[in-house]
Amino acid sequence: MNFVGSHILSVDQFDRSAMEQVFSVADEMTPYALRRRITRVLEGAILSNMFLEPSTRTRISFGCAFNMLGGEVRETTELKASALAKGESLHDTARVLSGYSDVIAMRHPDAGSVAEFAQASRVPVLNAGDGPNEHPSQALLDLYTIRKELKSRDRGVDGLRIAMVGDLKYGRAVHSLCKLLSLHDRIHYKLVAPPGLGLPGDMVERLREKDHQVSEYEQLEMGIDHVDIVYVTRTQEERFPSQEEADRYRGLFRLNQAIYTQHCEPNTVIMHPLPRDSRAQAQELDDDLIENPNLAIFRQTDNGVLVRMALFALVLDVADEVHNHAQPVTWYTAKRFT
Ligand code: NCD
Repeated sequence: MNFVGSHILSVDQFDRSAMEQVFSVADEMTPYALRRRITRVLEGAILSNMFLEPSTRTRISFGCAFNMLGGEVRETTELKASALAKGESLHDTARVLSGYSDVIAMRHPDAGSVAEFAQASRVPVLNAGDGPNEHPSQALLDLYTIRKELKSRDRGVDGLRIAMVGDLKYGRAVHSLCKLLSLHDRIHYKLVAPPGLGLPGDMVERLREKDHQVSEYEQLEMGIDHVDIVYVTRTQEERFPSQEEADRYRGLFRLNQAIYTQHCEPNTVIMHPLPRDSRAQAQELDDDLIENPNLAIFRQTDNGVLVRMALFALVLDVADEVHNHAQPVTWYTAKRFT
């Protein structure tokens, strides 16, 4: 895969060597993300962050990643605050924004919209989530986290056993991660979802065609035994035709420490793309897991910056130049607490 100048729209663009490339550049970014070194390699470059759906970590980590490479960020955070609300086409918005920026990160409520937008863009577009379809940078950071977690247990990804729990129908993070994992050998996917929220049939088919094992469950307890990773997701309420229908699914699968201790193998890693729903009746990941050392949710968010820095560096063709534009830490970063 040639990253330079490319849009990153789907994990289907990746093969194993492209993933390795992203992860090895991400490793290189660690001292910059930890603020132990500064680089100005993207000085003068501008990222347009166009997030037309709610977001905290994806938007801010794309922005911080760009800042940490020395670039500047312009934000649009609401559909109704953009000219799309006046009827402007994705084509025209893309043509305009790409005249102002060097790269665009875009989140949009409709499947396929970011690809449509990218067709008219003159600069690379990174898909930050298009409706229920895909979320490639999330899947990359999840896989990067899985690799690190397994490495500390002397394991690689081939032969992984993973439980995917929750809304597998609308969860774009799950869709992208399932596809990315399928590039490895002998994955056992244990899919735990209530009736009506299972992984789309064509995706299940595709995983089986690649000789992976797929098992489906409707009970949490049955799906989370004998796995290396439990990947829990939020019910994507905003995608349901009505709130009433969404409410039917709220809080169906709640993982807490007692269930974990009783049903999971020791050291099973717990992941979630976040946000987890903390409202009463939801809480798909109970607060009592916070002391569990296998809860990797904040290691995932930390890794997100590294992976997004790597994507920018590769797409904008500065991956080999990052260290050449390194500077000593400033007075402030030297005194920083963490
Ligand atoms: C996910 C998303 O937006 O798809 N969040 C994220 O980007 N980390 C998952 C979710 O919203 O449930």
